[in-house]
Amino acid sequence: MKFKGNRVVGMKPKTRLPIVFFLCFCFFLVLLFGYIIFSLDLNRNRSQRKFLQKFPEEEGDSFGHGETGDSSISSIPFQVLSWRPRILYFPNFASAEQCLSIIGMAKSKLKPSSLALRKGETVESTKGIRTSSGTFISASDDSTGVLDFVERKIARATMIPRSHGEAFNVLRYEIGQRYVAHYDAFNPAEYGPQSSQRIASFLLYLSDVEEGGETMFPYENGANMGVGYDYERCIGFKVRPRQGDGLLFYSLYPNGTIDKTSLHGSCPVIKGEKWVATKWIDNQELEK
Ligand SMILES: *[C@@H]1O[C@H](CO)[C@@H](O)[C@H](O)[C@H]1NC(C)=O
Repeated sequence: MKFKGNRVVGMKPKTRLPIVFFLCFCFFLVLLFGYIIFSLDLNRNRSQRKFLQKFPEEEGDSFGHGETGDSSISSIPFQVLSWRPRILYFPNFASAEQCLSIIGMAKSKLKPSSLALRKGETVESTKGIRTSSGTFISASDDSTGVLDFVERKIARATMIPRSHGEAFNVLRYEIGQRYVAHYDAFNPAEYGPQSSQRIASFLLYLSDVEEGGETMFPYENGANMGVGYDYERCIGFKVRPRQGDGLLFYSLYPNGTIDKTSLHGSCPVIKGEKWVATKWIDNQELEK
């Protein structure tokens, strides 16, 4: 017997194509229903996770949003480094190019960093506490838009509006330079009444440091407290700077009092150079 190669027995060529399409369509439907049933099942088991990742499907993975909201779901990966004080770590918060661009705009403006003085302190008496150089730059002064990008991202990561942030303080620590352990919040008992208080600090590491230059938290989880800790010593929990990574910590408890475990400092740089952009976030809106 002889067949013409591509002919199906007993069927006219004209009706063949629609049937093939129909079968494909049925197969597609089966797959679709299978997927829906499978995902409903997952939904039941892991409702929270599923909710955050996929719901609602029709809306392209995002919710209807309010006027000031985002049109899509985004993720800013983070790791909780500590609850005492509350420290979050954001790997790859900014790109290497963005970091280099911030260093570039700060480099020519650096001046020795200064300190807010307590009652009775003088510039002379506080010499050596903070030996870095730095400069303040507002996002509005940066025509490249990099600081604007970083500031927006910080606001979204913290859900504290940009208007609560002070200008970026871009700092350079050379070999031997450091910042002795201190608080970012101002205790009214030491500094007098405050019109605005720092809630949190966000550090964006702009460079790697070959050795030293860690951000240290000597009182992390209550360690070294009440034993006469020498503020110059670089001990406790330490975070090693890595270009592009972000570090956020809170200086105040939710009730507004200062979290004593938020004491922190910058260990001396031993090898290399440390660049960091600091954003202090206040409990008041700041005039710009
Ligand atoms: C504020 O909160 C901290 C931590 O929860 C607590 O230890 C402290 O007693 C509170 N202070 C006041 C005045 O409520």
